[in-house]
Amino acid sequence: MPQTAPQEESRPVRIAIVGAGHVGSTFAYALLMGGLAAEIVLIDANRARAEGEAMDLNHAVPFTHPTRIWAGDFADCAGAAITVLTAGAGQKPGQSRLDCIRDNAGIWREIVPAIARNNPRGLLLVATNPVDVLTYAAWKLSGLPAARVLGSGTILDTARFRFLLSQHFGVDAHSVHAYIVGEHGDSEVPVWSLANIAGMRLPDYCRAQGLPYDREQMQKIFESTRDAAYRIIECKGATYYAVAAGLMRITQAILRHQETVLSVSSLIENYHGISDVCLSLPAVVDRGGVRRVLPLELDETEIASLRRSAAVLEKTIAALDLS
Ligand SMILES: NC(=O)c1ccc[n+]([C@@H]2O[C@H](COP(=O)([O-])OP(=O)(O)OC[C@H]3O[C@@H](n4cnc5c(N)ncnc54)[C@H](O)[C@@H]3O)[C@@H](O)[C@H]2O)c1
Repeated sequence: MPQTAPQEESRPVRIAIVGAGHVGSTFAYALLMGGLAAEIVLIDANRARAEGEAMDLNHAVPFTHPTRIWAGDFADCAGAAITVLTAGAGQKPGQSRLDCIRDNAGIWREIVPAIARNNPRGLLLVATNPVDVLTYAAWKLSGLPAARVLGSGTILDTARFRFLLSQHFGVDAHSVHAYIVGEHGDSEVPVWSLANIAGMRLPDYCRAQGLPYDREQMQKIFESTRDAAYRIIECKGATYYAVAAGLMRITQAILRHQETVLSVSSLIENYHGISDVCLSLPAVVDRGGVRRVLPLELDETEIASLRRSAAVLEKTIAALDLS
């Protein structure tokens, strides 16, 4: 008997990007270079911006992968495997991510229902800040199952943390296993108790290498991680390469069903008294989105810090009145 593949498996992989600014267009470029999608649609309130980016990207196609790229509207989200949300105001110099909530929550009420109406079966991947609050709002406003709504969360902070630790310890960042959890923002939490190189906790690694474990230096590394965006925004106005690479990694884990552990933002229920809030903990990501959140064995200080981070987010979510 001939087997007929389900329709959605035979259609070209479409990624919709809402917001074709720095982050959205850099992600589109990374997608094109990586050859992950057959179709990339750019949707932006500034239509000319989306059209210009689509033209520029199309002119790279002969050098890269056959990909259909165009400036579209919300109807084009139909059938997208993932709709990536990067629309909205970014941090201005000195602003925190939470300061962006007023403008971006308004945009969310307009765009999220339009996306969900046109694409009730796809996944939503949020990058706009404050990313945890807007991931929660995207879940509420879309009516999609929580597993299919995720945010880039602390994937970027975790990358910054691993990079800075790798510089300090003189090993490749891929060989440093350490997470930033909680808010993608000022209340984020470094998980020192589980950070390791080759399975050795950092103090043990230092002992084995005959190096001092310098707590003050570790604290500085965390502060540089947490405050990196402020510094980059001061220098060049916005951050976009690393977050685009992080969005690529999440997209790859989803499209290729990789079951990768990533510190994405997702709905947290019953974790050390934390419930009904989106924040980052390492989670298994596959084609269904967030398959499961991994309950880390944190120490008491880390649990207390994570609860404080959740409380900051809960307060901002409550002020949005999403019920
Ligand atoms: N999650 C992360 O790790 C991370 C990292 C960097 C930036 N960001 C966030 O990503 C967001 C985008 O940053 P950016 O630098 O690309 O900003 P940007 O100003 O360059 O681009 C934002 C785009 O959104 C568009 N837009 C605004 N309202 C819209 C609407 N209603 N519908 C469609 N498009 C709309 C604008 O026209 C603009 O092109 C910001 O919130 C920023 O803070 C997140």
